[in-house]
Amino acid sequence: MGYPETRLRRLRASEGLRKLVSQTRLSTADFIYPLFVCEGERLRNPIKSLDGCFHLSADMVGAEADEMARLGIPGVLLFGLPAKKDSQGSGAWDATGPVPQAVQQIKRHQPGLVVITDVCLCEYTDHGHCGVVKDGKVDNDATLNLLARMALCHAQAGADVVAPSDMMDGRVGFIRKALDENGFTDTAIMAYSAKYASAFYGPFREAADSAPALGDRKTYQMDPANSDEAMREIQLDIAEGADIVMVKPALPYLDVIHRTKERFDVPLAAYNVSGEYAMLKAAAEKGLIDHDKAMMEMLTSIKRAGANIIITYFAKEAAALLSR
Ligand code: PBG
Repeated sequence: MGYPETRLRRLRASEGLRKLVSQTRLSTADFIYPLFVCEGERLRNPIKSLDGCFHLSADMVGAEADEMARLGIPGVLLFGLPAKKDSQGSGAWDATGPVPQAVQQIKRHQPGLVVITDVCLCEYTDHGHCGVVKDGKVDNDATLNLLARMALCHAQAGADVVAPSDMMDGRVGFIRKALDENGFTDTAIMAYSAKYASAFYGPFREAADSAPALGDRKTYQMDPANSDEAMREIQLDIAEGADIVMVKPALPYLDVIHRTKERFDVPLAAYNVSGEYAMLKAAAEKGLIDHDKAMMEMLTSIKRAGANIIITYFAKEAAALLSR
């Protein structure tokens, strides 16, 4: 049956009808909010490249955790800015560093808030690569031990979930083993499984001071042209013990999110990255686009594609809109 019997506009006629037939509902419970924790005290410095986000010292994250609870945002993802960097990234497993300190602060303030920590060396190495560099190359196997140390350090501080974002082969299994051997069988792993070598990380690298000094990340992050390879990455991470898998960035990779959801039964996160956020902020500031409407449309599209969890710098603003 077609027109004139069928008229798809019928169910679009009123707000109420549209609500009833709406297939995708965003919820504050979908969001994870990224936080940048720095060395120091009483710091809450605006991040230039990420309008509305802050560099927080560990003593300031408690208040942030309270705000998450007030807004109903279930989890945060922590990134660290250490005071010092070296070739190995040894600040990454320093129990007195900003991230472990922040984990403890959050757990003291809001024990129910899910604390996820980013596990990657790029913020801690002086060369800015996500792994150890040997003879001008990022050495996969030499990096695994260091990532495991970092993950263990975060678990010991009380993190609920560790999230390796380095893209070394075998790291999920390696981290799982290290956690289990040390009694952290309940610490979950959210793997940045299909992480692309993307230009959309620019504002984050400025915020985290983690841009590679030499070269790029193309020998470990994925080629934007590939999606079969994403399926292989995800399959391997699940086999190695990933509890949650991730596609990153989100908006330019909705097809990958969709393929993953169709194929795997594991909870799927999508990272609505810094460049996606900054583009909208910049366009809205120029008066070119309606910020709130475009934000909700972006987030809805990520959920519609199949993401169960959306990591986004918009979390607070979207939560505030959803609770109206
Ligand atoms: C660290 C890491 C990056 C992001 C998350 N973890 C940067 C990168 O890989 O260069 C990007 C997040 C964002 O852009 O919002 N490896």
